[in-house]
Amino acid sequence: MWTVCLCIAALVALSFVHWIHRWSNPRCNGNLPPGSMGLPLLGESLEFFASNSSSDIPPFVKERMKRYGPVFRTSLVGRPVIVSTNSDLNYYIFQQEGRLFQSWYPDTFTEIFGKQNVGSLHGFIYKYLKGMVLNLFGPESLRKMLTEVEQAANKSLDMWSRQETVELKDASAAMIFDLTAKKLISHDPEKSSENLRENFVAFIKGLISFPLNIPGTAYHKCLQGRKKAMTMLENMLEERRRRPNKVQRDFYDYVLEELQRKDTVLTEAVALDLMFVLLFASFETTSLAITFAIKMLAENPHVLKELTEEHDAILRKREDSELGLTWKEYKSMKFTFQVINETARLGNIVPGIFRKALKDIKYKEHTIPAGWAVMVCPPAVHLNPSTYKDPLQFNPWRWEESELKGASKNFMAFGGGMRFCVGTDFTKVQMAVFLHCLVTKYRWVLMKGGDIVRTPGLQFPNGLHIQISEKHKIRARGGRNHPSRQDDEEADHVYC
Ligand code: HEM
Ligand SMILES: *[C@@H]1O[C@H](CO)[C@@H](O)[C@H](O)[C@H]1NC(C)=O
Ligand SMILES: *[C@@H]1O[C@H](CO)[C@@H](O)[C@H](O)[C@H]1NC(C)=O
Ligand SMILES: *[C@@H]1O[C@H](CO)[C@@H](O)[C@H](O)[C@H]1NC(C)=O
Repeated sequence: MWTVCLCIAALVALSFVHWIHRWSNPRCNGNLPPGSMGLPLLGESLEFFASNSSSDIPPFVKERMKRYGPVFRTSLVGRPVIVSTNSDLNYYIFQQEGRLFQSWYPDTFTEIFGKQNVGSLHGFIYKYLKGMVLNLFGPESLRKMLTEVEQAANKSLDMWSRQETVELKDASAAMIFDLTAKKLISHDPEKSSENLRENFVAFIKGLISFPLNIPGTAYHKCLQGRKKAMTMLENMLEERRRRPNKVQRDFYDYVLEELQRKDTVLTEAVALDLMFVLLFASFETTSLAITFAIKMLAENPHVLKELTEEHDAILRKREDSELGLTWKEYKSMKFTFQVINETARLGNIVPGIFRKALKDIKYKEHTIPAGWAVMVCPPAVHLNPSTYKDPLQFNPWRWEESELKGASKNFMAFGGGMRFCVGTDFTKVQMAVFLHCLVTKYRWVLMKGGDIVRTPGLQFPNGLHIQISEKHKIRARGGRNHPSRQDDEEADHVYC
């Protein structure tokens, strides 16, 4: 009897040791990149998600680059992962989309964004959806949208300037959400009894959290937020079905038209998931970018000065001062686009882009095993001192150098290859127009907050509180660092 027990115990111990050994030494038909798989199951997730307040390459990645080189292995959220900080390998990964690599996000993301979100759809249906999104946010639509974007920015700024202070992260998120929701589903927050955006806010708070779905956890609230938002979107679509518009006006009209076609590949579930992703992608990312840009402008007055000059010049050149921005004026904002590029480079709003290896892939002396996840790490490329001199400096002028311009390999804030962000142009319009309205008409002072934390996603834990006032109608009130002052041209540039 004893011997049997002993044998079983020994067997259990042996297979445990074997399992641990297998965990830290995964099988590979070739030479695995160096690295550590961390603890069993947990891997190195805790180190990866540890927060840090610097804008530099995340310490997790930086330490491992030093120890193992530019390509290393690890384990995150239960998956073996190859991390690539090498711009050539990143480029190769983007170019081989659908052949050697495929878009892949952790299971928790799929749970949260729906099983049929754009990120995890492949092949035919994906191309179809992409066409649909480009139809909405492509250059032709954006040209028509310009005035609307200007009016939204104008209206928000006017409102904020009447408040004592405004928290820019939430306020700009609200501005962008309302505009996107209007374009997509003609949602008018002033006329609707339910607050669609509130559900998205609850959703976002738990997005990067431990996936424990029990009442009280952030993850649970996140799923609840998604559920409520989805129900609202469903009801709105149903409502539209009952009372259709005569001409196609928004995305829902388009969806209903498509669903009625016999040969369509679109289903209601796919359309609703897509709607959710678009609403989410548009307001969270762009509002982070706007907030980061304003923080950078406040910290770099010489950049603000040049930006203001560019936009004042646009107004001076305009023949009819009653008219709003034209597409030609928008296209002429050279320095503004440099500021936007620099914001995207240093902001690193997307800290990792995930793929899955479809086959064993040999790259230089290493092999990436089939089935493994691959994480492209944009911050490591954007903060590489041999490409970007003094990488932690916010320096829009660096984009004047011709080497940077064509060098798509060294700029991947919006991804690359086939899966390049479809919202890029939309984001640029939003940011450029917002900056235009802001710097031509207003000045602002930092009041409180503005600290950043990266977990590794960019966050503003205490927001960015600013006080905005009209340039030519200064009220007698002061910011944190200075008393109220005269409204002269000098002051425009010295403060804020
Ligand atoms: C600062 C703003 C933004 C940043 C930094 C950003 C970044 C990115 C990145 C890095 C990707 C590639 C993901 C991958 O390859 O797996 C991506 C894809 C995507 N983005 Fe954005 N994005 C921004 C704004 C937007 C906006 C405003 C929209 C919506 C209108 C949007 C919609 C999408 C969609 C639908 C995809 C998936 C495209 C695909 O899988 O082919 N993004 N974005
Ligand atoms: C951020 O990381 C650096 C090392 O890269 C470390 O010295 C610093 O203490 C970290 N800061 C925080 C707030 O965790
Ligand atoms: C911007 O807003 C102001 C007042 O809020 C208004 O007088 C002006 O016409 C608006 N301009 C545009 C282009 O919408
Ligand atoms: C911004 O970056 C993109 C991608 O590298 C580049 O094509 C573009 O020319 C840059 N814009 C400016 C104004 O430098």
